[in-house]
Amino acid sequence: MKIFFLGIFSIIPENMSKINAVITGIGSYTPQYISTNEEISTFVDTSDEWITKRIGIKERRILKPEEGKGVSYLAEKAIEDLRNSKDFDPLEIEAIIFATSTPDYILPNTASLIAYRMGMKNAFGFDLGAACSGSIFALDVGQAYITSGKYKKIMLIAGDVLSTVTDFKDRNTCPIFSDSCSAAIIEATTEDFGIMDSILHSDGNSLEFLHMYGGGSVNPASHESVDQRLHYIHQDGKVVFKRAITEMGNTCAELMKRNHLTTNDIAWVVPHQANIRIINAVADHLEIPINKVTINIEKYGNSSAGTIPLCLREWESQFRKGDKIILTAFGAGFTWGAIYMKWGYDPA
Ligand code: COA
Repeated sequence: MKIFFLGIFSIIPENMSKINAVITGIGSYTPQYISTNEEISTFVDTSDEWITKRIGIKERRILKPEEGKGVSYLAEKAIEDLRNSKDFDPLEIEAIIFATSTPDYILPNTASLIAYRMGMKNAFGFDLGAACSGSIFALDVGQAYITSGKYKKIMLIAGDVLSTVTDFKDRNTCPIFSDSCSAAIIEATTEDFGIMDSILHSDGNSLEFLHMYGGGSVNPASHESVDQRLHYIHQDGKVVFKRAITEMGNTCAELMKRNHLTTNDIAWVVPHQANIRIINAVADHLEIPINKVTINIEKYGNSSAGTIPLCLREWESQFRKGDKIILTAFGAGFTWGAIYMKWGYDPA
């Protein structure tokens, strides 16, 4: 046995260090228009009191056509915000992974448009569809690219313009959804920081509970698909609610256990912002004090792939190098998961 282990170790060169992938900068953008619960109450039969109590949202940001169009508009603004704190040469970016369910077009992908417009001429890019879990799925893919040694600097973009697929006549969904986008750079490092571990899952046996049936190859756009309101998100809120709590709670617990992390070790939990009651239930399950959980749902609502990086950006000034952070999300698919990372830098 001893000889076997010696044999394995002897093939690793002495000077070879483990490569980690670490976030080195992040920027965000939310549209200027603020839609309040009072405004939502003029569209559907609801109230500020109901939305605040049952969902935890007071207001959300909506991209109005007069401000700009498409998720790429928000992404460009997010990259401008990133540039305020992080100096980088666009030509050094080797890949762009854009997590979104609301791309500018079905094709071409939005990542290619961003690469061209923002001068990242050496980057290849693709969009990644994992709904509200998109940001953590993209982080995991980017981490794998970097730790493989193939790439050193990647831009991750995550965001949605859910207002374009929200039925403002459906009170089950329209109080919840919103728009935002963020952009982060991840880089190779041999320091012990960055993405340490991840657990991701999908369950395709849940289509009926959370979907947008129109616009794809099964129901391409037609008069009928529009009349049937198929181009909007529909959900069975109760089913989504219960699964979100169970899966996010269990996945975080498993991730913490296998990395020997106690609640005291965790500096922050950064959950997807879908419902304040889901967030509270996950925190309770993990026995994490709520002041260690990033919560901004009351201001921004649920912008799908946008919520987690928007929290990272908003809490960036409170993060310290080495902080142990758990990200966790749940969304259509169903898709869900959790990422454990050690934050890579102190506030500027
Ligand atoms: N305003 C007022 N009443 C509403 C309402 C609204 N916006 N939406 C639903 N109701 C009513 C229902 O009609 C129901 O009335 P009834 O008892 O007379 O039938 C009552 O409130 C309770 O409905 P219920 O569906 O049990 O509400 P809920 O407490 O489960 O909250 C959601 C509904 C959608 C807010 C909640 O289920 C949820 O957040 N689910 C997860 C959604 C999610 O995360 N989606 C995105 C995926 S990441």
